[in-house]
Amino acid sequence: MLSEEQNQRLTRVGLDTPMGELLRRYWHPIAAASQMTERDTLPIRLLGEDLVLYRDLSGTYGLITARCPHRSMSLVYGIPEKCGLRCPYHGWLFDERGTCLEQPYEDTENPEGRFKDSITTPAYQVAESGGMFFGYLGPDPAPVLPPWDLFVMDGVMREVCFAVVPCNWLQIMENSLDPVHVEWLHQYMRNYVMDKLGTPEKKRERQSHQKVGFDEFEYGIVKRRILEGETEADEDWAVGHPVVFPNYLKSGSVNTPAFQIRVPMDDENTAYWWYRCFTPESGVPIKPQAPEEIPYYTAPVPQLDNTGLPQWDILDNNSGQDIVAWITQGRITDRSVEHLGRSDKGVVLYRKMLEDALAAVEKGEDPKNVFRDPSVNRIDLAVEKAKLKGRAGKIGRGARTGNTTKYSPILKELDRATD
Ligand code: FES
Ligand SMILES: [Fe+2]
Repeated sequence: MLSEEQNQRLTRVGLDTPMGELLRRYWHPIAAASQMTERDTLPIRLLGEDLVLYRDLSGTYGLITARCPHRSMSLVYGIPEKCGLRCPYHGWLFDERGTCLEQPYEDTENPEGRFKDSITTPAYQVAESGGMFFGYLGPDPAPVLPPWDLFVMDGVMREVCFAVVPCNWLQIMENSLDPVHVEWLHQYMRNYVMDKLGTPEKKRERQSHQKVGFDEFEYGIVKRRILEGETEADEDWAVGHPVVFPNYLKSGSVNTPAFQIRVPMDDENTAYWWYRCFTPESGVPIKPQAPEEIPYYTAPVPQLDNTGLPQWDILDNNSGQDIVAWITQGRITDRSVEHLGRSDKGVVLYRKMLEDALAAVEKGEDPKNVFRDPSVNRIDLAVEKAKLKGRAGKIGRGARTGNTTKYSPILKELDRATD
């Protein structure tokens, strides 16, 4: 249980909030490279700020505040120039550092006044890795981009799935520290949904948890489980899989490792990225992909409308089931009324790590996973070969529909080729 004040401290992400300060120490994914192939600008909401990602005619990317500092037209409608982005309302021109380069009327009527020298707009660093654009909103100097394995490894096929989840980021992260929900939400409730959908053949046996464990390690927390019939020698316990501090889960298995990345757009909305790799063992044919060729697609989010009727077809997969759990906890769940049990010890450990990181930032230190050494160009994060007593190897039809892979263009193409 947290007090109202503790809950605010861990959930609020705006400027000048403790968590906002902490999360501004990290590079956050903001767009897939392939989203920018057919457009020049993209609206980005990140940590309570409205920004625009743009590419100018020289190929330089910028990430600047969307509101024009003249009279507030959105630069999402900006026009890319050789250097920078021009506001379409009165033609003021800004570069990727936020410098105002031109104010056409002011420059004509009063060139000596140099009004533009007094104008800047907030501008942030943007960089690309593994087919994702990342933005950094924190103090200089920016750390190096996170060299996590999935962003930099060779010999895999990648895809990127996205959804806006209408709730605070922390309840999504706490779900990742909660192995027991798998047997209820993703097995028992799933079976109820399959009955509702008239597809009882897709039911899954409920695998009861006997023990859960959590170990803090250099990059976050490894979570482990022992299911009925397993021992500590099984990979579900012996290897486990990592929650990467502060807002990644590495999931999947060795054939389809994935990052699930939860980026706060603001206090009540989270940008959700599924960044998935298919290894040769998955059975997906591996072809070279340029960053902008990595497929990008979106997943539907169950809506809470006033009919109160669940959308069963969205709840037939893990991601749909998880999302409905998170959003029905409330936009920012009230942790003063929770009752934590032994299944929640991972949640408690994670909250403690957040508090430790908040304290580090308050002392002027770098928190965990802020990297400064450019010579470290890959960090590997172990996951089970197969999890939940599964078998490693090619992804079967069942696994293809178990989460947002249900909507994957790569798997749809593979299905067409093998049908
Ligand atoms: S509002 Fe942008 S130039 Fe006037
Ligand atoms: Fe889940």
